[in-house]
Amino acid sequence: MTHPIIFDTDPGVDDAQAIAIALRHPKLELLGMTTTYGNVDVEVATHNALLLAQLAGREIPVAQGAAAPLVKRRHAPPAHIHGANGLGDIPLPAVNRQAESRSAAQFIVDTVNERPAEVTLVAVGPLGNLAAALQLDPTIIDKVKGVVIMGGSIHEGGNVTPVAEANMFNDPDAAARVLTAGWPLTLVGLDATHRCVLRPSHMARIEAGQGELGRLLAGSYAFYRDFYHEFLGIDGCCPHDSCALAWLLQPELFTTARGHLSVVTDGAAEGQTLFAPEGRGFIEERWSTTPLVDVCLEADGQAISDWIADVLA
Ligand code: BDR
Ligand code: CA
Repeated sequence: MTHPIIFDTDPGVDDAQAIAIALRHPKLELLGMTTTYGNVDVEVATHNALLLAQLAGREIPVAQGAAAPLVKRRHAPPAHIHGANGLGDIPLPAVNRQAESRSAAQFIVDTVNERPAEVTLVAVGPLGNLAAALQLDPTIIDKVKGVVIMGGSIHEGGNVTPVAEANMFNDPDAAARVLTAGWPLTLVGLDATHRCVLRPSHMARIEAGQGELGRLLAGSYAFYRDFYHEFLGIDGCCPHDSCALAWLLQPELFTTARGHLSVVTDGAAEGQTLFAPEGRGFIEERWSTTPLVDVCLEADGQAISDWIADVLA
């Protein structure tokens, strides 16, 4: 089975790895990329998405989207993690294509309406574009095949605050709308992605297998790896965004649970994702009133990291 997908992204080193998978995997039909601020400004995200497609020799529509969160003040992009250019500050070739004139949200709405019940939205950045698409045309809730989101954390704790994962923290108001919209949704959060480490040996295989694109992935990986070494003491990096595609194509490598999600939108726990398992009673009902979704609670990190390298080698 082939999966037609729209990839919503803020590339970003780990986004770039995932985009390479989306561009190369024979069971993914990449209908387009939609870009958001997050790891970088949205203009940089758009540039990088266009560049990655170009290096893969693919003409993929790229539609630019959210430049800032829906409500909260925007934080500066994390240049110490992804580099100021989002790709580890390595020199980049010129881009010879342009983005769509349509907005990201309009692109999502149009594409889902053109192919009802076929399209999976895979979102690996802050969720403003999906929130805007929902506002533009709420009927897409019943027309998407699925929504897979890299973001959040159930038991793992946060990576940008003690409790919040970066994509949720960057736009908690958008996340709250998207995670509770009532569409068939799976959250692939830090409980899964922190189990995975893309090692230098994996990247050496990817570099060898992907030509010019491989050299870009390896160069940006070197910068990202330094960050992981300093902050988590691991030799390698967590391929967060590739895990969303791994879930779509290799779901047997993940442990999931069904239940209700809510997102804290302000205060000290801003961006935290709260999960109430289906059928579990709490002192009040308020955590169990949102639509049922699936969340990843565990993952076979070694197998997923090997899968990423196998796909790109
Ligand atoms: C997520 O935050 C971003 O920095 C990464 O690209 C990934 O999408 C991990 O928390
Ligand atoms: Ca990302």
